[in-house]
Amino acid sequence: MQISKASEAVGGLVEGVDVTRLTDSQFDDIRKAFTDYGALFFSQQKLTPEDHIAFARRWGEIDVNRFFTPVSGYPEIAEVLKEPDQLLNIGGGWHTDHSYDEAPAMGSILYALEIPPSGGDTLFAGMAAAYDALPDAMKERISDLKARHGNDHVFGEKSDYQKAMNGRLGNARSAGQEAVHPVVLTHPDSGRKGLYVNPGFTLYIEDMEREQSDALLAELYAHIQQPRFHYRHVWKEGMLAMWDNRATWHYAMNDYPGHRRYLHRITMAGVPLSQMH
Ligand code: SIN
Repeated sequence: MQISKASEAVGGLVEGVDVTRLTDSQFDDIRKAFTDYGALFFSQQKLTPEDHIAFARRWGEIDVNRFFTPVSGYPEIAEVLKEPDQLLNIGGGWHTDHSYDEAPAMGSILYALEIPPSGGDTLFAGMAAAYDALPDAMKERISDLKARHGNDHVFGEKSDYQKAMNGRLGNARSAGQEAVHPVVLTHPDSGRKGLYVNPGFTLYIEDMEREQSDALLAELYAHIQQPRFHYRHVWKEGMLAMWDNRATWHYAMNDYPGHRRYLHRITMAGVPLSQMH
């Protein structure tokens, strides 16, 4: 097994291993790499849904996503699917999953079944690298701030996205969760500080005028959106990607009109973030 850096800021490439046959020592190396790189990309896997679930269970509990359509017979696996005639995709903007939960999902494991001939890449951004590169004055300014996150505007009944997805997302009535988390999170495993706000689900900074909060979030987002903090993952069928929501953002590109893109996603449960400042 070889593990190398995918980019300076985020991600590791794992080669020469079958995730259905990992020894404990290989799994320990992978776990360490996951902590170091925030996301891992495995090539040439051949997974049944049972293999996918078994690999996810090695990391801990599975968090069953309440909004995505599950794979028939496998409630633990969500479909990440865009058909040739559909316009919208899932995850087509910078976000980190489940930040609206008190205990946001630790991460996801995404397996590629059908990939368009070109396009459909996923971008990842490294939150620790982005934090490290902030000017000291900004680090000082945000050190004690907290932000409120929510999901009603994405998954709720009145959300334009929910409506435009035309039945592809479920459970709109059970949306509405909100949670408050530190803007700067000390990662429980790496001990590194990273930014924990995202354009998808962060609503505003607590105890700040709305205009100021919007301006601060826009400044942080513009900083994180610099390509020097990114890795662009180009998919092939059989690839498996996994990412840590406490260390990364991701963005599924929607640039393959007329083609099908189909992946299976398992989300791994996380812990409350309130004590991780
Ligand atoms: C997601 O946001 O989970 C989807 C990622 C992808 O389809 O590449």
